[in-house]
Amino acid sequence: MKIILTGGTGFIGTAVRRQLLSEAHQIYILTRQKILSAHEQEKFIYWNPERLGDWAACFDGADVVINLSGENIAGRYWTESQKQRIVQSRVNATRMIVAAIGQARKKPSTLINASAVGYYGHVPFALMTEGNGRGEGFLAETCEMWENEAMQAERFGVRVVLARLGPVLGEKGGMLSKMIFPYYFFLGGSLGSGEQWISWIHRDDVAGIFSFLMTHPSLSGPVNVAAPKPVFMKEFSSLLGNLLHRPSWLKVPSFVIRLIMGEMSSVVLEGQRVVPQKLSDQGYRFKYEDLKPALAAILSKKNA
Ligand SMILES: NC(=O)c1ccc[n+]([C@@H]2O[C@H](COP(=O)([O-])OP(=O)(O)OC[C@H]3O[C@@H](n4cnc5c(N)ncnc54)[C@H](OP(=O)(O)O)[C@@H]3O)[C@@H](O)[C@H]2O)c1
Repeated sequence: MKIILTGGTGFIGTAVRRQLLSEAHQIYILTRQKILSAHEQEKFIYWNPERLGDWAACFDGADVVINLSGENIAGRYWTESQKQRIVQSRVNATRMIVAAIGQARKKPSTLINASAVGYYGHVPFALMTEGNGRGEGFLAETCEMWENEAMQAERFGVRVVLARLGPVLGEKGGMLSKMIFPYYFFLGGSLGSGEQWISWIHRDDVAGIFSFLMTHPSLSGPVNVAAPKPVFMKEFSSLLGNLLHRPSWLKVPSFVIRLIMGEMSSVVLEGQRVVPQKLSDQGYRFKYEDLKPALAAILSKKNA
C-alpha cells in the first residue's frame, strides 16, 4: 500500500514505520524537519502543517493516511500559550490533511487519526468502551476538537478511525522514561492516590493495531487502543520497582504534584479504565495483554 504518515519521526511513529516497512508498504513521511530518505521504501517530505503546499501532491493515489502529529502533551509546562499550541498543532495539521485528501484526484480509502483515552476524562470507577461520551477537562476537550476535525474526511468517502490511545509503553520515550528515572535513585513510588487507572498499551501493539486497522474496513469511528487489562497506578509502580529490583515506597501526594506541575498534573493524577471493545470484537490478538511481560520486555531491551 501507499501510506502517508505524519509524526513518523516521533516515539510512536518510529514503531509504526518499522511495522509498515516489515510489511513492504511504501511510506511517505510528512515532517517539519529536513530529512533525507535512508530507505527506498521510505520517502520524507517536508510539510508545513499550517498550510497546503506542494507536499499535498503525495496524497494522490495513497491508500491510507496515518496522522500522529502534534505538540508533545508533556513536553512543557501548560501555560495558556502552550495549551493553545497543543490544541492548534493537532487541529490545524488534521485540517490540512483533510484538505489534502479533498484535493487528491484518487483519494485514500482510510484515515487513521490518533486521539487519546483522555477523551473520557477522569473516571475513577466505570469501565469505558467506545460507546461512552466525552469527559471533562482540557485533554478531553482537545481530543474532541481533534476528532471532529478528522471526521470531516468522511465527506470525501474516507473511512475515518479515531485511534484513542492509552499511555504507550516502550523504550526511549513516552510515559515510562519519565516514570523510571526516580527508581535509579531509590526514589520510586506511586504518584497521587495511586488509585488512578492506567490504560496502558505496549508500543509494539500500537504498531500491530494500526496495521490491523488498515486491513479491517468494518472498523471505523472511535477505537480504544489500550491493552485489555488496565491497572491502578500503585500496581504499576510496584511492578516497575520489582522488575528494576528497586524499592517503590515513595508516595508523592497529589497536592505536591499539583503544586509542581500545575494543570498538567492531570496527566498523572487522573485516569480512566478503558477496554478495547471494538478490537476484541474483531479478534485482534494482543502481543502484551498483561503489564508484567510488557514491562519486562521493554526493560530487557533498555538494558541490552
Ligand atoms: N505517547 C503516548 O503515550 C500517547 C498517548 C496517547 C496519545 N498520543 C498521541 O499520539 C501522537 C504521537 O505520539 P508520540 O508519543 O509519538 O509523540 P511525539 O514523540 O512527540 O511525536 C509527535 C510528532 O509530531 C510532530 N510534531 C511535534 N510538534 C509538532 C507541532 N507543534 N506541530 C505539528 N507537528 C508536530 C513531530 O514530527 P516532525 O518533527 O517530524 O514534524 C513529532 O515527531 C500524538 O499526537 C500524541 O498526542 C500519544
